[in-house]
Amino acid sequence: MARRKKIYEGKAKVLYEGPEPGTFVQYFKDDATAFNAEKKDVIEGKGVLNNRLSEFFMIGLENIGVPTHFLKRLNMREQLIRQVEIIPLEVIVRNYAAGTMSKRLGLEEGTRLPRPIVEFCYKDDSLGDPLVAEEHIIAFNWATQQDLDDMVALALRVNDFMSGLMYGVGIKLVDFKIEIGRLWDNDFQRLVVADEISPDSCRLWDIETGQKLDKDVFRRDLGSLADAYTEVARRLGVLPSNATHMPKPTLIN
Ligand code: CDP
Repeated sequence: MARRKKIYEGKAKVLYEGPEPGTFVQYFKDDATAFNAEKKDVIEGKGVLNNRLSEFFMIGLENIGVPTHFLKRLNMREQLIRQVEIIPLEVIVRNYAAGTMSKRLGLEEGTRLPRPIVEFCYKDDSLGDPLVAEEHIIAFNWATQQDLDDMVALALRVNDFMSGLMYGVGIKLVDFKIEIGRLWDNDFQRLVVADEISPDSCRLWDIETGQKLDKDVFRRDLGSLADAYTEVARRLGVLPSNATHMPKPTLIN
């Protein structure tokens, strides 16, 4: 089979040319990175779990009328997506203080915020994805004021959907990051949720015990990342309830 053309390789995913114009194939790798790739490892099965979880969240969003780039899952590690123009901003929504917000503002991790707070970081690894203000975004033409209003509205809808979904399975959605893309319909532009939504890009804490079920398990060496992601998938019904991660194939006689 002819090798597909690789469009882009990131830290956790690879994008290939899709079967139709305007589509890409998004491949989920097992690589885990943190602290701007200073910490790296390969977590067997992570890509498979994130592919399934991202599919599950994107389909749910589509079903409540939030547009995404997702078209369909192709196999264990790949999904077909729409080609979009990624806005070079990471959109972070926070419900509780954690991570960089706790450090920056001296807030204890887990402090409930008065309301969901939306932050923007400029996507540039060499700069460490710095936090930017709306003023920077408009002045440097990364997005228009209208885009910004639409991005905040989209991010808050994703937050309500994800918070409710997680609450239903005993998980607190502390914060998450999404990326947003532009889809062109002739001259008409639509903003859609792009990239991925997975425990790699969310903070998820068990409501009862506070146990972390997200990439902080890897960042902070708190145990098995694959077990944590499997637990999220199991609770959401994305994996059968008795599944352990990545069963090895068995020979049937
Ligand atoms: O994750 P870190 O402490 O470096 O940064 P943060 O600003 O506290 O992250 C807020 C949320 O966005 C967390 O759920 C991160 O996992 C997520 N995030 C991400 O997925 N990718 C980034 N480059 C930065 C943050």
